[in-house]
Amino acid sequence: MAKLSVEFCGLSFSNPVMPAAGPPVKDGAMCQAAALGGAGGLVTKTISVQPAEVPRPCMAEIKGGFLNTELWSELPKEQWIEKEYQMAKDTGLPVIIGLGYTAEQIGQLAKLVKPYADGLELSTHYVGKDITPIVDALKAAKAAVDVPVFVKLSPHTNIQEIAVALEAAGADGLVMINSFGPAWELTWRPVSP
Ligand SMILES: Cc1cc2nc3c(=O)[nH]c(=O)nc-3n(C[C@H](O)[C@H](O)[C@H](O)COP(=O)(O)O)c2cc1C
Repeated sequence: MAKLSVEFCGLSFSNPVMPAAGPPVKDGAMCQAAALGGAGGLVTKTISVQPAEVPRPCMAEIKGGFLNTELWSELPKEQWIEKEYQMAKDTGLPVIIGLGYTAEQIGQLAKLVKPYADGLELSTHYVGKDITPIVDALKAAKAAVDVPVFVKLSPHTNIQEIAVALEAAGADGLVMINSFGPAWELTWRPVSP
């Protein structure tokens, strides 16, 4: 039988397949479903200091593609801390907690999620492409936790420059990559349920 287990940054994954931050990990129950489905680890949906307000519908099929206008989690951070993260932890899988966005927000959130985090994934999606705020967010996370901190990059044209700066600033890994966009203005039709 093939051995698919992976050791990465001190974390042990039973296999190298994980759901990306998004609807498949939007709460504890979905994390448990992903575990039942065989995920080797969990990355939870990005949270921020305030829940996101997402217009509906927020996903659409287009010719040859798919658009989404989903933001970060619509659940308040308190709900994640009181219930959802524990449900994810109960799976026994490594739990990498998705956080956004500014250094100040990350510093605040990282302390709150610390009891549940085997790692952090910082989303840079709404931070912009300037390097300083992205690196500052990493530094805020590294100062708050002892677990590995991964930074998820967005498809900016200076992605190489951002990656090099993050490596120099001590990122434990880079996650590639977030959705292309925004694409608010395009014509769309809702995906059938
Ligand atoms: C509906 C939807 C919601 C998403 N939500 C998040 C999120 O909360 N945080 C994040 O970092 N990425 C989010 N993403 C981006 C995905 O994690 C992933 O990076 C992106 O879909 C590109 O991977 P793919 O080419 O496999 O789809 C979302 C994507 C979709 C389609």
